[in-house]
Amino acid sequence: MTLEVTDVTKKFKIRKGLKSSDLVAVNNASFSIEPGQTVALVGESGSGKSTIAKMILRLERPTSGSITLDGVRSTARGEEAKKYRNLVQMVFQDPFASLNPYHTIAHHLERPLLIHHKTRGREETRAKVEELLARVNLSPDMADRRPHELSGGQRQRVAIARALAPGARYLIADEPVSMLDVSIRLSVLNLLARLQREENLGVLYITHDLATARHFSDEIMVMLKGNIVERGPSDEVILNPQHDYTRTLLDAAPDPSHHGRMKRQVHDEYLATTGS
Ligand SMILES: Nc1ncnc2c1ncn2[C@@H]1O[C@H](COP(=O)(O)OP(=O)(O)O)[C@@H](O)[C@H]1O
Ligand SMILES: [Mg+2]
Repeated sequence: MTLEVTDVTKKFKIRKGLKSSDLVAVNNASFSIEPGQTVALVGESGSGKSTIAKMILRLERPTSGSITLDGVRSTARGEEAKKYRNLVQMVFQDPFASLNPYHTIAHHLERPLLIHHKTRGREETRAKVEELLARVNLSPDMADRRPHELSGGQRQRVAIARALAPGARYLIADEPVSMLDVSIRLSVLNLLARLQREENLGVLYITHDLATARHFSDEIMVMLKGNIVERGPSDEVILNPQHDYTRTLLDAAPDPSHHGRMKRQVHDEYLATTGS
């Protein structure tokens, strides 16, 4: 059951006054993710990472190319679309916006179970909710709380549990910890890594952070202005980058022991020379 992205391009129409032009957000991207594999997608803001995530999640339609999972196209309708949606779930960036303040945690987890007919009857549903909470290291009494009673990290765990509820085989995590306190980021990433191992999930981990990309991913893809310019095993990409831009990213990565600001400048200059 491979997730296959083939020759995918996404153009947005941009209007400036009376003129309209095409912005190529993603240019002819091809890659695949196997079950049990974590692939990181790194690159600066605006390089097209979220647009790739949205196309995989059916939130945007590719201008051309195809995305398939287990032979089902992302653009399918009806029963096929349902199957695709259940298998590919997202973890939101903002744990404060992704849960409804008026509903309990149990309600958030019951909904996908009921919609996808994963359980029958109240007791079975409740048991399944508690099992989902346990899978993300939350205690069963969280079920009756509301989002405002939870920390950002706990909310993100609920969001992950909700993604698992319909039986996801792939998680698309678009900067899943960038809005969390630095102190709890690793625990959420470790949770994702454990679930990924235990349940053999495929994960697309979108991030700015090369250090966690290397630590948590089997492979790293580097995106520059809509193009995937490099893909390889994480250590190789970090230790022996093939593309100039990857080297620039590595040099610009925050390093408290060095002159971070100067490196940042070098990075901005690189983008300037390439007309960004
Ligand atoms: N709905 C949209 N309409 C027009 N332009 C968009 C839209 N979504 C994204 N873009 C543009 O596409 C490019 C890639 O954006 P995005 O995928 O969000 O990048 P990233 O996630 O890497 O920061 C950017 O130039 C952005 O402004
Ligand atoms: Mg983004």
